[in-house]
Amino acid sequence: MHKAIALAAPPAPDGFPDSPLSRALGQKLMLGLFLPIQAGGWTASRLPRTTTWTFDYNAALTRQAEALGFDLVFGLAQWLPKGGYNEVQNGEALDSFMAVAALAAITSRILLISTVHVLYGPWHPLHFAKFGATLDHISGGRWGVNVVTGHRAVEHEMFGWSRIDHDRRYELADEFLSVVKHLWHADENVSYEGERWRMHDAFITPKPRYGRPILVNATGSEAGIGFAARHSDMVFVSSPTGTAFETAIQALPAHIAQVKAAARRIGRTVRTLINPLVICRATDAEAEAYADAIVAFSEPTGFAAGKFDSDAHAWRGRKAHDGARELGLGGGNLQIVGSPQRVADSLVRLHAAGIDGVQLSFYDFQPDLAYFGEAVLPLLVEAGLRR
Ligand SMILES: Cc1cc2nc3c(=O)[nH]c(=O)nc-3n(C[C@H](O)[C@H](O)[C@H](O)COP(=O)(O)O)c2cc1C
Repeated sequence: MHKAIALAAPPAPDGFPDSPLSRALGQKLMLGLFLPIQAGGWTASRLPRTTTWTFDYNAALTRQAEALGFDLVFGLAQWLPKGGYNEVQNGEALDSFMAVAALAAITSRILLISTVHVLYGPWHPLHFAKFGATLDHISGGRWGVNVVTGHRAVEHEMFGWSRIDHDRRYELADEFLSVVKHLWHADENVSYEGERWRMHDAFITPKPRYGRPILVNATGSEAGIGFAARHSDMVFVSSPTGTAFETAIQALPAHIAQVKAAARRIGRTVRTLINPLVICRATDAEAEAYADAIVAFSEPTGFAAGKFDSDAHAWRGRKAHDGARELGLGGGNLQIVGSPQRVADSLVRLHAAGIDGVQLSFYDFQPDLAYFGEAVLPLLVEAGLRR
């Protein structure tokens, strides 16, 4: 691979003590928000709520999260045929790259992580390096990208080809990102002939402020973990056993240790983040009742119900009925349902399992985030996880 020239990598942003990433890493448990830029968020329920995919709603949420001291917001990217998953998760969605990038102009401290399918298009590494450096400057080093390769066959078909084999996708993404990183770093023109991409006397300036934008990927597979070890600052891990908290918390320590060890073996550090769906009310019983109401109004074919053929390894542990309200709530790779104390305790346990941060999603984002800030955050400060 990439025999043409030796590709160099810029230093990672956590190597700069004053980078926004280093500031976020100062928290024992980073707090992120999984923005609902797609209709239905992570839950295919019709129980009334404020949540919408619109930019104004997500911009207001991001400001709310920043005011609460959250460290990052993140948006997913999806390409779905007409109709989406179901009538709630109907495919209406803002593009993650654009929408999350646009948040740079209305925020000042919070990290902004877009998701990009780097193999669709096809993107050219020069585009990506230039756009990334531009966003890095607009955001003051707060912008990052969740690099995904596309796990649904239907998405690849939308772009005019059949889905590329799982591990091969990571090889191609590796070439792509290695070239992008080289462009972010190179102080001379770059000529490159690789397996898939080539360029002659390519150059970008200005360079990113803190070496490069923040790099993230989401995986549970060996190939994806290898990719994360080589490239990512943060890895979105999923529960290897499904969404039920008590089984997930047993399986996570070994899984997380494996991810971190893969990076350590090549002299790097990756942080692990997980995305729980939080259903929190004043008492456990009220939270359970709220969760039951969400389920009662659910569509039968949720996000997780496998309408589209996916070859994602990370979710193979999911089962239709694993003790959690899988099909109904359908969301998050983990569910935390309970009182503020139970939610805080669960986050403490995730941290003890090796998790460095969480991207939370909620059912009714604005009021549920406000309640989290009011009732759970002080408990996390008390527990020493947040400053
Ligand atoms: C928190 C999280 C966010 C994700 N966001 C996206 C996304 O926006 N778009 C996408 O196509 N896949 C997304 N994925 C799926 C991953 O790209 C990947 O397909 C999945 O984690 C399986 O990877 P693996 O087969 O290497 O285990 C996400 C996964 C997780 C856990």
